[in-house]
Amino acid sequence: MEDLQRAAKVGFASSFSFYLKAHNFHWNVEGIDFKQYHDLFGVIYEEVYDSVDTFAEQIRALGAYTPGSLTKFSLLSQIDDEDEILPKERMLAELIQDNEKLIQILKLIFELSEKYKEAGFSDFIAGRIDAHRKHGWMLTASSKGV
Ligand SMILES: [Fe+2]
Repeated sequence: MEDLQRAAKVGFASSFSFYLKAHNFHWNVEGIDFKQYHDLFGVIYEEVYDSVDTFAEQIRALGAYTPGSLTKFSLLSQIDDEDEILPKERMLAELIQDNEKLIQILKLIFELSEKYKEAGFSDFIAGRIDAHRKHGWMLTASSKGV
């Protein structure tokens, strides 16, 4: 069970980092098509943000403590911070890559959750995978011709 708890914490911290990066890009994107990208990043950060409270409480329900500090997030997250202000095409490329990485992390969590027959948690993680597949589609479609 400890392997699942550990993986869940990594997935949670990585999801929070991904949320923060999408919000950062929503704030700082620039260009003639500002509104389009501001809105795209807005849809993504809001969806992921809406999921973090449930993710945190699912970890508590697995019997582990939920990471809740920037220090813990930075230690656990597998999504790298972005300190630079990037041009929009690099913001898109980075989020596409991070989103794909997050899906891989979530799939590993799903497998572990299935191993322990944690059906409720598996269901939640399956929903997160599905949501990130949709984010991947929107990001990739938006990157065509950029
Ligand atoms: Fe906003």
